[in-house]
Amino acid sequence: MIQVDLNGQVAVVTGATRGIGFGVAKALSKAGAAVACIGTNAEKLNASVEQINSDGGKATAFICNVADSAAVKQTAAEILEQYGSRVDILVNNAGITRDTLLRVMTDEQWDDVIAVNLRGPFLVTRAFISAMRKKKYGRVVNIASISGMIGNRGQANYSASKAGVIGFTRTVAKEVANRNITVNAISPGFIETDMTAVLDPMIVTEMKNRIPVGRFGQPEDIANAVLFFASPEASFVTGQIIAIDGGMIM
Ligand code: NAI
Repeated sequence: MIQVDLNGQVAVVTGATRGIGFGVAKALSKAGAAVACIGTNAEKLNASVEQINSDGGKATAFICNVADSAAVKQTAAEILEQYGSRVDILVNNAGITRDTLLRVMTDEQWDDVIAVNLRGPFLVTRAFISAMRKKKYGRVVNIASISGMIGNRGQANYSASKAGVIGFTRTVAKEVANRNITVNAISPGFIETDMTAVLDPMIVTEMKNRIPVGRFGQPEDIANAVLFFASPEASFVTGQIIAIDGGMIM
């Protein structure tokens, strides 16, 4: 893990139950931040938060569907209340896939993915941006995907949502730059999590062959980049999109 000092800071991570989000929450916690962990599965989220705290962290669980406007408003109010109206770092990580070819994609498959992956970051960022503006400090890190940069067969909904996140990142970065708030995005390549565990083994092998460094990514690979963007030292870096993909799309 790269060394970053986040002592005294407050971070919010969506989709912190497992996979990349859990890896990010652990890393931010190890760097000293108090972490508000958002997820939808109470039992699993509580278990993840317990694990972070048993390792010496200061994490709290907040159950919230990031696509639900009222729930996001309510949860943001609870988080701001608990942490003295202070949120320094926001990581919009929650995401889903509903992969299928365009010609058989249902309205629900399209809408569900756009709701969680694109409306989610919009609702959550909007809910915390005023607190960041008031404190004149903030680090927003959005988790996009290389699919949103180069497209991927069977992921018209997902690629569109992640391309949307990239546009959202660049625009919000411009809106808040004068308040010492940076907004950046990370586009992971193939990272070993529950999301990718369900893929057809043939696709997985084909993917691995396309990764120049010759291995799949781990949540820690993404967490290290989040730590950099989330650090006070990254104050001159904003509106950037970085692919963390073992060289897949270079
Ligand atoms: P995952 O499926 O293991 O974890 C997703 C997390 O998001 C879970 O904690 C889940 O509870 C949460 N979540 C889902 N819907 C939610 C909702 N409506 N409200 C709140 N939380 C919700 O996925 P993984 O692999 O950890 O992915 C994390 C992010 O990284 C996602 O945005 C994904 O699109 C992105 N990504 C992942 C890649 C990979 O290879 N695993 C590649 C590129 C991007």
